[in-house]
Amino acid sequence: MNNHKTAEELAKQHREISISQFFEKNRHLLGYDNKIKALLTIVKEAVDNALDATEDARILPEIYVKIEELSREKYKIIIKDNGPGIVKKQVSKIFGKLLYGSKFHRLKQSRGQQGIGISGCVLYSQLTTGEPTEIVSSTGEGKVHKYILKIDVDRNEPKIISEETFDNYDKWHGVQITFIAEGIYREHKQSVLEYLKETAISNPHAHIIFDSPHGRIEFHRGTDKLPPEPKEIKPHLYGVEVGILERMLQETRARALASFFVTEFSRVGKQTAEEICNKAGVDPKISPRKVEHHQVVELIEAIKETKLTRPPTDCLSPLGEELIINGLKKELNPEWAAAVSRSPTVYRGWPFQIEVGIAYGGSITEPKLMRFANRVPLLYQQGDCAITKAVTGIDWKRYGIHATQLPDEPVVIFVHMASVWVPFTSESKEAIANYPIIIKEIKLALQDCARKLSIYLSGIRKAQRIAEKKMIYERYAPDTAYALCELTNEKKEEIEKMILKLVEMRWGETEAGPQTEQPEIQEKEAENNGNREEA
Ligand SMILES: Nc1ncnc2c1ncn2[C@@H]1O[C@H](COP(=O)(O)OP(=O)(O)O)[C@@H](O)[C@H]1O
Ligand SMILES: [Mg+2]
Repeated sequence: MNNHKTAEELAKQHREISISQFFEKNRHLLGYDNKIKALLTIVKEAVDNALDATEDARILPEIYVKIEELSREKYKIIIKDNGPGIVKKQVSKIFGKLLYGSKFHRLKQSRGQQGIGISGCVLYSQLTTGEPTEIVSSTGEGKVHKYILKIDVDRNEPKIISEETFDNYDKWHGVQITFIAEGIYREHKQSVLEYLKETAISNPHAHIIFDSPHGRIEFHRGTDKLPPEPKEIKPHLYGVEVGILERMLQETRARALASFFVTEFSRVGKQTAEEICNKAGVDPKISPRKVEHHQVVELIEAIKETKLTRPPTDCLSPLGEELIINGLKKELNPEWAAAVSRSPTVYRGWPFQIEVGIAYGGSITEPKLMRFANRVPLLYQQGDCAITKAVTGIDWKRYGIHATQLPDEPVVIFVHMASVWVPFTSESKEAIANYPIIIKEIKLALQDCARKLSIYLSGIRKAQRIAEKKMIYERYAPDTAYALCELTNEKKEEIEKMILKLVEMRWGETEAGPQTEQPEIQEKEAENNGNREEA
């Protein structure tokens, strides 16, 4: 007897999968692989959104976070911001539908990308506790709206449980979200507390108050200046592939192929557009919708053979050296800090910029690597990240810094990648993919910064040696004076005074300053080394 099933029988099992069902089963992809991390992910998604929204609206962020233990492994998490708020009709979709957002279709440096973060929190909360999420929002002028909702997982649509409207007497604007979710609260190195602390470093313009289960922690502003507003840009032809080009040709409003290239892409002039069309043997005047499949393939080949202007890089909003140092000093209280901001450059047609900071000594007691993408701290998957690869690829000993793979000194190494599109290795956005050009840029910035630290360290090490020498001479001054007094019959006190004066003249204040010694590493040499390491 044949046990095989027919295609018809199997077909009965075929059905569409909603994106909510997919992530309900694969919640680890969104950062919910354990209960400790779950609390971090919820806070991170909401705080990242609050920072994006306030930055877009040009408001200095005031963020409030509260985590309260309701019962064993069950927490209430509140996040409140003073951003622009969300208009009434968008609230339910933003929180009740996965893959709904404002950032995916634009090319602009921001913390969020996919439109999956905050509804992911709603999904995780209802999955683990069965509780809905409460959202209170106002845009300042109109009323305050309160929603209590869940996600209808089968349809990936919001399921509103209740909806209320209040008068907005004090013209409050912003969003307040309350989740009830399963979790475990800890304060270790990948915790909510660490995330907020690193966020305060990379966003020194933010004021954050955190009411943790163990008490209140406040992160003060280091500056009242908002970061410069990142500009939105168009895609660059370097990165375009057949499928995307085909779709864009169908969707464009441009009437002719040449003007399609000029209007839809960044930095393509009329001449270049015509050059591409001619190389591909396609009429520049034809309607984009009429371009056939084989012509699209020819156009892609022609693009590869055409010299293109790089995309503009003023679309990025880096922190800048001054603010990196400000952030590191305000949160870590180091003895010394320096920073290096590289010039922007491009990977696969996307502009990006690398910044590095190093803080040394003071309250810092052990080595630590802090990774950031668009000002968001990355706390997991350190081993898989391009930043780690670059840091461990540096020969720290060349700079007088003890190291096995990472430096063994009391240093915090801060690395930030700002980009209109950060190439994360997964949806939970924990590590940056290993593009060689990104690793090379990080290495060059690290080398520059390490050189600065090496100058400082050789200064203090020389000062230490001198101080030790001085101490020995001072300690033996009475004995030496006594011996000389025996030999010369001069007064012992006078001789001792003279010895101490000589010691002071030789190794006194002026020579022991940490800035006196020159670096042992030549700029050129280290720069060459950087290129060689990359090759
Ligand atoms: N606190 C907030 N204030 C204003 N708008 C918000 C806030 N949180 C979320 N949003 C809006 O909701 C959208 C979806 O958020 P989210 O699911 O986190 O996706 P993403 O941040 O990746 O776009 C955002 O793109 C933004 O437009
Ligand atoms: Mg988000």
